[in-house]
Order: sequence, then structure tokens, then C-alpha cells
Amino acid sequence: MGGDSLYSSPVKRGRWRDANTHRDGGGVPTPTSSPLDAPSTASRSPFPVALRSTGEEISRRTVLAGALALSACGPKAQGQPIPADLPPLKAVAPFRVGACVQALHLDDPALAGLLAREVSQLTPEWQMKMEYIVQPDGSFHFEAPDRIAAFARAHGMGLLGHTLVWYAQAPEAFQRLDENRIGFADAYRNYILAVAGRYRGQVVGWDVVNEAVAEDGDGWRDSLWAQRLGAFEHIALAYRTAREADPQATLLLNDYNLEYYPRKRATFLNLAERLLASGAPLTGLGTQMHVAADIAPGEITRMIRDLAGLGLPIHVSELDVSLTRAENKLLSRTELQRRQAAVYAETAEAFMALPERQRFAFTLWGLRDRDSWLTAENAADAPAAFDNAGRPKAGAAALVGAFRG
Ligand code: XIL
Repeated sequence: MGGDSLYSSPVKRGRWRDANTHRDGGGVPTPTSSPLDAPSTASRSPFPVALRSTGEEISRRTVLAGALALSACGPKAQGQPIPADLPPLKAVAPFRVGACVQALHLDDPALAGLLAREVSQLTPEWQMKMEYIVQPDGSFHFEAPDRIAAFARAHGMGLLGHTLVWYAQAPEAFQRLDENRIGFADAYRNYILAVAGRYRGQVVGWDVVNEAVAEDGDGWRDSLWAQRLGAFEHIALAYRTAREADPQATLLLNDYNLEYYPRKRATFLNLAERLLASGAPLTGLGTQMHVAADIAPGEITRMIRDLAGLGLPIHVSELDVSLTRAENKLLSRTELQRRQAAVYAETAEAFMALPERQRFAFTLWGLRDRDSWLTAENAADAPAAFDNAGRPKAGAAALVGAFRG
């Protein structure tokens, strides 16, 4: 496969245009509102996107005053001691349980051992993104994702491709494309064909487009891809091309804050429906779930139910539960830790309540606290289900309890 680049690879110039006449007539559609587009009483998201390297900010929502009754949370989370012999997550879950990973993590025997024990699926945390794969000259390199794929294979784990198209990443090689050599759309297709083609038969699914919906839920993200190929067209084209490269993989649309902002959720579902109506092969929905420990009980359950209404498989794709991002500063650390376990429980219980065919997988964004991107941001955070030593926290016990049913 060596030698792939934006300029050289499977695309036959111009071919995609014939194969992709849009049934909905193209143009830049404005997502319409839906019955889901109701005002929220939810607590605000812990991720106003300053943290997400986009430079965008969102307006903050009013925080729910005072402590909310936790009765809506999973009863299994409440005050249970962590058994010394807690079984591995993957042993009790009737679906794949995942974790994100970086290639360098595999050099840490303690973490590699914990991954092998606990999870049955891996998502490369960033090394399957354009930021890693696309070199300044437009060539591709795959060393780190190949290592992760090999580790997954060696341990009988699924591999989740993350992510082909992301508004937040538009490598220079695309921006400076020599269009005498290749048109933009063909380079875009080359990228997807090369990457999804390389891991064809190895991945269980792809986050084909990541975070397509605008921060406040009002329409879709602007991006280099949208500007050059069209707001809807670049998304539909990504799904069609990914399917061409890999006929089997589940092709997911992945986004965040869907539990905090019903308006964003409605736009997300609306986009999914439009894709399906246009014939694009969207076959799963990913909800990232970077949440804070003080999220209002019930919000997560409502979100998972709403998403499931479309009938597609659901991926809880990047779950972590921040302590330091909690808006309610009156809560003690102990109370936040208790709520953190309750959030893990509610998420797992809501996922378990889905019909079996809709439970795609359940992925933790960092297995131990020290591995989490949030801990890198704020050393006081401890958002994971396992502590720094790899011991299960109450969150892990809550997951096991819920997965056992
Ligand atoms: C984050 C990774 O955890 C970081 O290591 C990286 O620097 C930036 O991206 N939504 C996503 C993930 O889809 O890819 C992000 O991962 C977290 C937010």
C-alpha cells in the first residue's frame, strides 16, 4: 500500500461525479426543526469548545440550581462497594466495550495489560486522523495506526476507525493542493479510499464524518470540505466513498453535546435523516458523551432514546465523566465522585435498554484517569472508570453492574 498520497491512488479522475447525483437536488440545505427541538432544562455542557481547539465559544446555559435528586440515575451506582474481584467489562457486556488508545500506550505494559483484560474494541485516539496520516507533501503514513490495528488483531479486538472527515482538521496539503495535478474532490476521495481501503476487513466501523453539526445546533459546521465540495455534498460523498472502500464496515456519524443540547441533537438527527433519504450509506450513530459529573439525571437516557428512534445502531463513542468541568461548584469532590459513578451507571443502563441490534459498542475515552485527554488539560480531573493504577473506580463497578443486566 506504500506510496499512497492525495495525488496517487484508486480514484479515476472525475468518476465520482456521475456516481453521485443527489436526489435532493444539492445546494446548501438548512436543517429544519423537528419535534425534538424543545427548549432544554439540562445543565450546560462541560465543553464550550474553547477546550476543543476550534476557537469557537458557545453561550452558556443556565445551570440547574441546587442538587437534583439522583433517583433518576442508575440505582446500581448508589453507594456500592467495589468488589475486589470485579469481572472485566468485556466479560459481562453483551456488546463490544472499547477504549481509545495511542500507539505509545502500547509500550506501557500495565496499560496494555489492562486494555487486553477489559476491552474488546480500540479506537485510535488521534492517529487515524488526517493530522497524523497526511504529510505536508500530500503523502500518507500509517505507522501508528498500523501498530494499533496489529494490537487489536493480536488480542481479538474490534477496531473503530476514527475519523475520516473532521471540520477541525484540514491539512495544508489539501489547502495547497495543486489542482493541475488533481481536482479537490478527487483528492478528497483518494484520501478516503486509501485510508478506509487500507483497514478494510479490519475495522468494525468508521466515524466517517465527525462533528458535522454547528456548536449551537444551528445548522452545520463550516469547513474547508464544505466550502470546496458543498455543505451537504461533502458529507454524502464521504459516506459513499467510504462504502466503496469498505463494503462491510458500519459507517457512523459521530458528534458531541447531544445530551446537553436538544437543538443540536435535533439537527444531528435531521442530518442523519437527510443522508438516508439521499441514499448515502449511513449505518450508525455515534454519541461521544464527554459529560460532566453534574449533568442532570435523565438527560443521557433521553438522548440515547431519541437517537435510537432512527433505528440505527448506536455507539457510545467517547465516554468520560469530568469532575472539574462540573458547573456546580458547591458540590464536594466526594459528591462529584458519587455522581460520576451514577452517570456511568445511567449511560450503561440506557444503552442496555436499547434493542440488542442497536447496541453497536460502548467506548471509554481513556481507560485510566492518567490516560485521559481531560487529565492532560487539568491534572485535578479524574474522569475515567479506572484510577491511575488501573484499579476499578466506582464508575467501573457501575458499568459492570449495568452490563450484567
Ligand atoms: C481528542 C484526543 O483525545 C486528544 O488526544 C487530541 O489531541 C484531540 O482530540 N472529540 C473527538 C475526539 O472526536 O477525536 C477528540 O479526541 C475529543 C473530542
